[in-house]
Order: sequence, then C-alpha cells, then structure tokens
Amino acid sequence: MITGPSWSSKDKNRESPEQETMPSPLILVNLKTYKEGTGSRAHMIAQAAELVSRESGVTIGLAPTYIDLHPVAHHFAIPVYAQHVDGVEPGAHTGHITADAIRAAGAAGSLVNHSERRLTLADIDASVRALQAQKLAAVVCTNNEAASAAAAALAPEYVAIEPPELIGSGVSVSKANPEIIKRSVGAVRAVNPHVSVLTGAGIQSGECVKIAVDLGTDGVLLASGVVKAKDPGAVLRDLVSKL
Ligand code: G3P
Repeated sequence: MITGPSWSSKDKNRESPEQETMPSPLILVNLKTYKEGTGSRAHMIAQAAELVSRESGVTIGLAPTYIDLHPVAHHFAIPVYAQHVDGVEPGAHTGHITADAIRAAGAAGSLVNHSERRLTLADIDASVRALQAQKLAAVVCTNNEAASAAAAALAPEYVAIEPPELIGSGVSVSKANPEIIKRSVGAVRAVNPHVSVLTGAGIQSGECVKIAVDLGTDGVLLASGVVKAKDPGAVLRDLVSKL
C-alpha cells in the first residue's frame, strides 16, 4: 500500500518525506469508467503496474473508479489517485467526494478538472486546497497552454496538458501536437517552476513517452492504450522501455 503523496522531488517547499524518494517520470494510468478497467480488471492492471514499476524503477500510478480505489490502494504497492475530488470539508454534502475520504481510502492524490469532469476555476482552487490540506497530490488537467498557466498559478503538484480532441483517439499528443506540450511546459515553468508537468491524450508507446519527457514533461497521463489492451502489462513494459 502506498498512501503518501507522490510529490515530485522538485517541490522543495513540501513537508512530506516521500517527496525525496519519488522517482520521476510518472506514468499515470486513468482507468476512467471503462469496463475493462473495473473490478477484477482494475486489480489485474494494478498487479501489472506494480510488477513493471518494480522491474523498471519507473513510478506507475493508477486512477481507478472510487469503488476500486480502496482495494487497489491496499493490495498493491503503487500510488493510487482518485479521478476527481470535491473541495468540501467532511460533513453534510451528500454525494460528494472529500479529500479526507480518499486519503483514508489510501489515495496518494487526485485528478482535478479532467476533460471528462470539468470544474470552474474556483472549484479547481478548492479541490487543490482540499487535497493539499490532506497532504495529497493534485493533478490538474488542462486543455491548452493558457489554462496550464492558470492552473500553475494555483500551485498544484502537477499540471497535465491534454488536448481534448486527441483523448481516446489513438493519435498521440506527442506526435500530433508536440508544440502544445512544449508551450505548456514553458507556460507552467514561467508561472511556477515547482509544478511538475504531465501530458496525455493518445499516449500508447514508449516512443510517445520518450518524446513527452524529451519535451520537458515529468511523465504522462493515459488511459485507453493500457486499459483497453489485451495485455496491459506488455503495454506498460513498452511505455517505460525508453526511459
Ligand atoms: O486521463 C487520460 C486521458 O484523458 C487520455 O486518454 O485514452 O487518450 O489515453 P487516452
């Protein structure tokens, strides 16, 4: 079980001791609500991620459904993320997901403002604050460099730039739009050099990951390439192969 935050070692102002041991880059696999990433398949993918991470030394995190978050976090030695968190305190908020609850479930952090779960700027800020109050890592997703700069101003642990039109397309952002990665890395660094940058959309191979890292990112956020694969372990092995 990995319950601590997965902050980058660049975050010099953070208090967590885990920050200095967190390997980089991060391969973060969002299981979304794919049938192929739910229940026993979530466990199978987590097992493969744990194995490949151990073999390669590359950190591989999973963002399963809320239902699978607790068992996956407790059975596998990988960082586990929620797919969304609400910026509310525990209390009378029916149907909300609190940072406190995902921490108790064993999460290392959460996605915030994913393209399939957009929030207002005020909501993003509240979610980031709620996560950081629990010493959890915030991964704020964005759609372009302007949004990436705005997200960086909120000082999350990660900004993840994902052009929405490429999500789930099988066409990799690394190859189709390397410019948006480069510009987003520049925009984030200019606002806050302590914020790590991920990129995603259509990532499917070690070559995609290497291009992303060579462009200055700290890793990738992906989904279908792993989740829908016949052999997720083989894809994960390929993803880390050029690092
Ligand atoms: O959260 C990752 C995601 O939005 C990218 O999806 O299927 O293009 O890797 P995919």
